[in-house]
Order: sequence, then C-alpha cells, then structure tokens
Amino acid sequence: MIKIDRLTKRYGDPETGPLVLDSLSLQVATREIAAVVGPSGAGKSTLAQCTTLLERPTSGSIVVNGDELTGLGARELRLARRRIGTIFQSDGLLSRRTAAQNIALPLEYLGVTKAGVRARVGELLDRVGLLDRAHHYPHELSGGQRQRVGIARALALRPTVLLSDEATSGLDPDSTASIVALLAELRDELDLSILFITHEMETVLAVADTVARLDRGRIVESGALVDLLRDPDSELGATLRPHRAAQQAGAGEAPWRVQYGEDGVPADWLSVLAAELGSPVSLLGASIETVHGRVVGHATIGLRATDAPLTVAALRRLGLEGVPVSQPTAAPARARALETAS
Ligand SMILES: Nc1ncnc2c1ncn2[C@@H]1O[C@H](COP(=O)(O)OP(=O)(O)OP(=O)(O)O)[C@@H](O)[C@H]1O
Ligand SMILES: [Mg+2]
Repeated sequence: MIKIDRLTKRYGDPETGPLVLDSLSLQVATREIAAVVGPSGAGKSTLAQCTTLLERPTSGSIVVNGDELTGLGARELRLARRRIGTIFQSDGLLSRRTAAQNIALPLEYLGVTKAGVRARVGELLDRVGLLDRAHHYPHELSGGQRQRVGIARALALRPTVLLSDEATSGLDPDSTASIVALLAELRDELDLSILFITHEMETVLAVADTVARLDRGRIVESGALVDLLRDPDSELGATLRPHRAAQQAGAGEAPWRVQYGEDGVPADWLSVLAAELGSPVSLLGASIETVHGRVVGHATIGLRATDAPLTVAALRRLGLEGVPVSQPTAAPARARALETAS
C-alpha cells in the first residue's frame, strides 16, 4: 500500500526552486496497478523518485506499508526501502555480471549466505521464466529478457511495492505484452501495489486497475480504468477508447486508426473501402466531435487486407488518413475484466 499525501517537490531551493510536484495525493492499494500517465516533464519520474525518497520531498507525506518515510532516520529508511522494488526503462543491469549474478546483488549486499542466494536466485529466475538464461550476460539477452532480470532483481528482497518508470518503453509489442502480463500475475500472487508510469496507452489498457493523469505536477484526472472508459466526459477515457477499440480486432484482423478529413467523409466509406480492398472491413470504434465549429472524427477499423501502401492509398481517395496500430495484447485476466467496459 502506498499513500502519498499532498506531496510537493521543488528542485533546488525549497522556496523558489521550480515547482515540479504540486500538492499531489495518490494511493495505490494492495493488489492494485495504478498507472500514471502524462506529458513529458509532467513530473512522473520525480514522483517515482520521491516515493523512495531518492529525491527528498519538499513537503507532504509518503506512507509505504504503514511507515511514513519522510519521518524515518537513515537506518529505518534503509529497511523501509527494501520493501520497495524499482524497475526502470534502462534495466540498469551490470554488464559484467550474468543474469543470475545481477539478481543476486541485493541479496549479497544483505549478507545472505551463498546457499541462500543460490536458492532465492533460482526461484526468481524460474518465476520470470529465465531459468535457461541464468548464465547469460545482459548483452546476450533480448530487451524483454533484460527487463525480466530487472524485475527478478527488484523482487529479490520480497518487496510489497513496485515502482515501474517506463519499464516497457522501447520494447517491441510482444515483449511489452509479456512484461505487463508478468506484472499483473505478480500483483495477484505477491499482493503487490504497483505504481506503473508509462506513456503508452495500450499498456495502460493491458495492465492498469486505476489511471491518474499528471499534468504540470498535478493530478488532473484519475479513476478506475473501467469507469474512465465508460465516462463520456473523461479526457482519459477519450484517449483510451480508440486504443481499446483497436484491441477488439478479431483474429486475422489488423487494427487501423483512421482520421476523417475536414471535408467529412462519405457515409458509405466502409463498404467502398471493403470493395476497393477486396476484403471485409469491420468498424471497431468511432467518434465524431465538433471542435471550433469544425467536424473532427476518427475511427478504428479492422482490416484483413495486408498491403499497407495500398490501404493508405485507398483511404486517401476517400479523404481519410490511416495508420496501422501496433499494440501489445492485453493480459488475459485484464482483458476479461475490461470486456464489460467497452
Ligand atoms: N534533478 C533535477 N533537478 C532539477 N530539475 C529537475 C530534475 N529532475 C527533473 N527536473 C525537472 O522536473 C520536471 C519534471 O521532470 P520529470 O523527469 O519528473 O518528468 P517526467 O514526467 O518523468 O517526463 P518524461 O515523460 O519525459 O520522463 C522537468 O521540468 C524537469 O526538467
Ligand atoms: Mg520520466
């Protein structure tokens, strides 16, 4: 359980330094993945760093597992930090240590016996599906595998809280899907509270229980993912729904995002497109709004045709701009939970 209350952070001078987090409050319950999204510079990484007190908050309180971290002395803080695992975009592995040796690090620092380290590292490698990669060096592993080693290392001291800052950014969709599925399993098996920072909306859909949108150091919107998707007035919902629509593509269908032109779009564009491509087109989701007196709209469609340049050209002739959507598949448990929400 993480409970952040009125966290304010100014870098440099506590009175006059730039205000990066502005009285921010946020809770992450046990067995919950709370996604934090927001534009670059919004303060997401600062939030993660303040949560471990790697950066000292200027004011406010951070309670992890019942301990108010800002009030702890150095020794107690060290102990409290063991219960917080962190994973970052750059996996932070030591390049001259094997996967097993990297995972062993936090245990060695604690003075765990050799036999104890070996047993625990074996368990962790097994849990993240890397038993057969134990003796590989980081450069001999894929990005997704390196991230798994990072997760195993973060779990070594049996934390109750995981902080993940862009842990899936830069991974291909399949690796991302397997990492988020792993995190969702770990949440349930180990009763973790996971603060999951990302800018990838597909990943939010695949893994988040709750979502908070951070803008200039403030949480401007938050709620349960399911509620946000249902809420017609939610900005987060509006951003997430097209991605959700793309996930509804059937087997053998590729989801595409299509933007309507300013001159509107022929009413029968779906059937015209299907005829031009010579294969069926399904409508997965669509929205039309009037912004500053202009009609703007987009749709998500499922295509069986595979020739992207041909598809783009056919869309253009209809006054539409289209791009294929690549995305991780939702972790199965989450996907089921979301089915009712769309
Ligand atoms: N150590 C630091 N000293 C001074 N200013 C900093 C420091 N770290 C971050 N900042 C500033 O704080 C603001 C928030 O940065 P932060 O890294 O938390 O953003 P972010 O939301 O993680 O962005 P991104 O999505 O690009 O990772 C930025 O304006 C940044 O320049
Ligand atoms: Mg960041």
